Amino acid sequence: MSNIQVNSDRTKAEIESVAITDNIRLSDDGNSLVIIDQVKLPNTLEYKKISDLESAYQAIKKLEVRGAPAIGIFAGYMMYVLSKKDEDLPYNEFYKRFIENKEYLNSSRPTAVNLSWALGRIERLVRSNKEKPVKEIVSLIKKEATAIHNEDIEMCCRISEYGLSLLKDGDGVLTHCNAGPLATSFGTAQGPFLLAKARGMNIKVYADETRPLLQGARLTSYELCKAGVDVTLICDDMASLVMKNGWIDACFVGCDRIAANGDFANKIGTSAVAILARYYGIPVYSLGPTSTVDMNCPDGDHIKIELRDPEEIKTMWYEKPMAPAQVKCYNPSFDVTDHELLTGIVTEKGIIYPPFDINLKKLFDEE
Ligand code: MRU
Repeated sequence: MSNIQVNSDRTKAEIESVAITDNIRLSDDGNSLVIIDQVKLPNTLEYKKISDLESAYQAIKKLEVRGAPAIGIFAGYMMYVLSKKDEDLPYNEFYKRFIENKEYLNSSRPTAVNLSWALGRIERLVRSNKEKPVKEIVSLIKKEATAIHNEDIEMCCRISEYGLSLLKDGDGVLTHCNAGPLATSFGTAQGPFLLAKARGMNIKVYADETRPLLQGARLTSYELCKAGVDVTLICDDMASLVMKNGWIDACFVGCDRIAANGDFANKIGTSAVAILARYYGIPVYSLGPTSTVDMNCPDGDHIKIELRDPEEIKTMWYEKPMAPAQVKCYNPSFDVTDHELLTGIVTEKGIIYPPFDINLKKLFDEE
């Protein structure tokens, strides 16, 4: 595993100088969360307040807040907002409501591990402090949620540095879906492009448009254009051609759950990108924090793939039909890429190379 020196404060300032990094924040009174409503982008940059359980569930489900690490950060803070409403209850009642809230939020989306990872972390904290007054437990939840957020910023900065170490000025990189600051805190798969821009390097990014909801087109090209990165939007089925043209030196993709053998779930179509890249001899890197690794999941066959509403592909924003109303649709949100197709996993702890099962295990054993 490679190891480079990272000054996260400097990296953070560099990414901040080109990107929007306030997609999730706690309101000053702590009674709500303020998010960027990502369904409205790129046409409208609108901030939305979320203060109750049902709105939080719907915000995740409808992809107003999305991206594996961002959902984890959102869930951590949301448990604080909800727990604060119950801080006058005796512990047993408080805990019962805490678990109901947690389980409902956890049922909003199944594939990304970060949601259950963050909720599990808050639950362990609540249980291990059950002797303390409930008000104190609630303030510990706030502290833990803030720690999850700050750790993600640190991880994104390190991932961006490690990712950038794989590129040289003038390289062309294909990316699939959105893994910039909107999907995380400071960016995973698209973090290196922002950092490159801040450092005056020229990386040519090819962004697949991606389903569902065209997040590559709406979000990735928005974030990268805004930052001044040289980005070209393509439809997913053009990836083969840009690779054949010799324009792509590497593929950088995100991840929503990495299994113990290195198989990983990412936005639907990622496995097709990896299969094409193998044909053209192009390296494929998955970039994500170690909170996305699920060592309890042995391989990709054990990752649950979310199926979404067919209307997302049959109509444009549920308004204009793009297909016959009666047509059958299959609308999985993610697919699994076999670890055999993966060159490396870029984490905050360094770049992990094959054999992934052994090297991932080593990484967690060292902790
Ligand atoms: O369905 P989403 O939008 O929550 O999916 C997440 C993604 O956009 C990608 O799969 C991404 O590469 C991983 S999250 C940084």
